[in-house]
Parts: sequence; C-alpha cells; structure tokens
Amino acid sequence: MTLKVEPIKPAIGAVVHLDRSQITDAAIAKQCMELVDKHGVIVFPKLGLTDEEQIAFTEKLGARVNFTTSAPGGDKGGLYTISLDPKLNSEPEYVLGTFFYHMDGLAMEGIPPPKASVLACRRTAPKGGQTEFASTYAAYEALSAEDKAEFENLRVVHSVVAGVREVADAVDIEPRKRARKAERPLVWTHKCGRKSLLIGYTADSVVGMSKAEGRALLIRLLEWAGQPAFSYRHYWSVGDLVVWDNCGALHRVIPYATDSGRMMNRTSVAGVEMLA
Ligand SMILES: [Fe+2]
Repeated sequence: MTLKVEPIKPAIGAVVHLDRSQITDAAIAKQCMELVDKHGVIVFPKLGLTDEEQIAFTEKLGARVNFTTSAPGGDKGGLYTISLDPKLNSEPEYVLGTFFYHMDGLAMEGIPPPKASVLACRRTAPKGGQTEFASTYAAYEALSAEDKAEFENLRVVHSVVAGVREVADAVDIEPRKRARKAERPLVWTHKCGRKSLLIGYTADSVVGMSKAEGRALLIRLLEWAGQPAFSYRHYWSVGDLVVWDNCGALHRVIPYATDSGRMMNRTSVAGVEMLA
C-alpha cells in the first residue's frame, strides 16, 4: 500500500495521509522514513496518537533514542514534554532556547545526533507556537561552488551554552551542562551522498576562525537556510504529528506565552550514522 503524499514546497515539506491503524505496519514505517529523507519534514494532520502510540510509532521508524533523561524536564516514559509551564517541564527556561533555530542533540558528544525528531501537538497556544523548519540540504545545494569548496572541511563547536545564549540572562545553566559541547563538521556528507549543513544556535564557533569571523559565517548561513523557499511554517492543530530529518532541517518555534497552555510531546529516532 502506498501512502497518499502532497508535497508542500519543492525544497521542504509534505503532508502524508496515514490512518492510526497503520502505525504499527513496518512497511508503512519504512515508507515514512523514505519520505522524511525526500521531503525533510512530513506532516500527519490530526493523527491523534496517544502517548503510547507515539512511542510505538517512533520505535517502528527506527531505534528510539531517549536523550531526555539528561535533558530538561526529564524522562516521562520516553516522551519529552515541551511546555513553558513549570508544572509540566521542570526546567522551562531551557524551552526558551527552542525559539531559535537548532537541531536536536548536536551538542551531545559521543552519540550521533537523532536521525529524526517526532513532535505531537497536545495543546495549541492562542497566539504563536507554530513551528518553523528550514532545509539545510537545500541551503547547501544552493550555495556557490566557491562557498561549497570553502566550507567543505570546516568544523564547528556546538554547545548547550550557545543554544540558549539569546536568553542567557533567563537561564541558570548547571556546570555539568555548561561543559557540554561537541565538534561537528559544518557540511555533513550523509551515507547516501547528499550533504546538509549542521548549523543552528548551538553552533558556537568555527575551528580555526576568530569568534567574530566564525559567528558571522554561522549566522549568515542560518539566515540563508531560513529563506522562504527552503523553509516551512507549521500551524498546529491538536493531534497533528510531524516527523523531520533532524540533521537536514533546522527547527524553531514562534514565541508563545508561558501561560498559553501549549504542550507538545517529543520522541526521537536514533541517528545511525556517526558524525566524523
Ligand atoms: Fe528541538
């Protein structure tokens, strides 16, 4: 059985029509991951999965990784609750960092960053709360030949501190997290041969460049990747589920109020390719 797919933009996004009864079907899950590779972001409108179903579906998509045990909010049976409400997320100040483009897990050394992130909407905000995605495959592919050659061997240091630097005065980072950083290639050549940029607010510096020169380059690349042709804004409805290629698409949320009630559940599919 072939899923009905409606592309959103040539460079990013597709709506996929899936029935809840299909989420445990291995062949369907394989198709979904192929669609993630092809479109970067896939949207299942109003799929309405329970927590248990989201975990089961994630486990069909690949090996489920749970790095939330060491992330703010802790582990609630494998789901990471994204909320600014301190009753739902014990360190909501970290969630403020999601207002800025990033890829999940890039600052975690020793493990490959998640292959895919899975986000389900439980409660929307009355204002804001939409999620924007930007394809860094498209951003890379559209670079000039000179830029591609110049960036090919650059390496970037990602850190937890950099990920929240825009809201640093609102975040008290414990020393263990303050020390967390990882060096990643700027251009990642995936096993399939495609290349994406590994960028985002966790990117703190470029190895071999001054702080100013490195950040100027990283910010310029973020602005480039965020252009309308490469990006998609998702307006959530309760029950929507979105899966995206975490190392090929940046994501950020449009700011929403602490008391907005917005609540999302995230799960992650483990990365299978170790970054050099
Ligand atoms: Fe994230």
